[in-house]
Amino acid sequence: MKFRALFVGLVAMGLSAASVAAEPIVIKFSHVVANDTPKGKAADKFKELAEKYTKGGVKVEVYPNSTLYKDKEEMEALQLGAVQMLAPSLAKFGPLGVKEFEAFDLPYIFDGYDDLHKVTSGAVGQKLLGKLEARGIKGLAFWDNGFKSFSANSPIKKPEDLKGKKMRVQSSKVLEEQMRTLGSIPQVMAFSEVYQALQTGVVDGTENPHSNLYTQKMHEVQKHMTLTDHGYLGYAVITNKKFWDGLPGEIRTQLEQAMKESTEFANHIAKEENDKSLEAVRASGKTEIYKPTDAEKLAFKKALVPVHKKMESRIGAETIKSIYEATGFDPSKL
Ligand code: LMR
Repeated sequence: MKFRALFVGLVAMGLSAASVAAEPIVIKFSHVVANDTPKGKAADKFKELAEKYTKGGVKVEVYPNSTLYKDKEEMEALQLGAVQMLAPSLAKFGPLGVKEFEAFDLPYIFDGYDDLHKVTSGAVGQKLLGKLEARGIKGLAFWDNGFKSFSANSPIKKPEDLKGKKMRVQSSKVLEEQMRTLGSIPQVMAFSEVYQALQTGVVDGTENPHSNLYTQKMHEVQKHMTLTDHGYLGYAVITNKKFWDGLPGEIRTQLEQAMKESTEFANHIAKEENDKSLEAVRASGKTEIYKPTDAEKLAFKKALVPVHKKMESRIGAETIKSIYEATGFDPSKL
């Protein structure tokens, strides 16, 4: 009776039934890379699937390329509820106090995507995501990007070639230590500022998976790049826990399905996207791409694996050990 009275009242006010339908729940998904990257494409896929499965009950607004927030600000915005979803690189959780995530930055800890997936698709990955809850954050998934190459304006064939160079890194103590171990000077900087810093010489070089380097046009301001594959860069998709827990159950289930499928999509395209970007850099003719010999790669490994031990007290010996056990990595066997 009450509802009828309300309906009659609204009609009397000139509102149609359609216009009184519930407003969609808005998810602002902010990220710092270009649309045309593994993360950019996966965020767009999540939007498509989330809106389809909830039949318009959820509207996902994707803000790429730091258009809404830069690295540090987006973390704060998520905690404050100004955005609902992010996919920061695993190297960016240290400042939040979740230092264990920096284990993903340890040089040469993964020998390829298969090793990585033993961690991200298994118990170790789930445990790591669980650590975010104490910060009011829910970890939904791991999305792949790829393995990093060093770049600079002079050739890089051996670890000593990076000595004295100012190298941009993400906000990870492990990455800072990695650069110091090579004798370079680490400079922490937001992703959105890297191109200009390279162009103006504020930094000499950087490290990236190829999709990031190419889509930010860093290859236009870096003459040399070496396929060292010395470390991994990938993402945790995260949401504000209070927001997520407060969603209607049915919507949450539909979003979980959308996340599951966009995660499969992300992890399926990541390698291919990076391979395509590498070819595009090669075709541009602006950066000389060097593939190290096995002996040269081993020299980088020998120089960098000691970073694991050095960072043990920060990351936690247990976390490092659990990754070694999952992948079979043995630092004593190089
Ligand atoms: C970087 O800052 O280099 C990356 O974390 C950017 C990204 O999100 O891939």
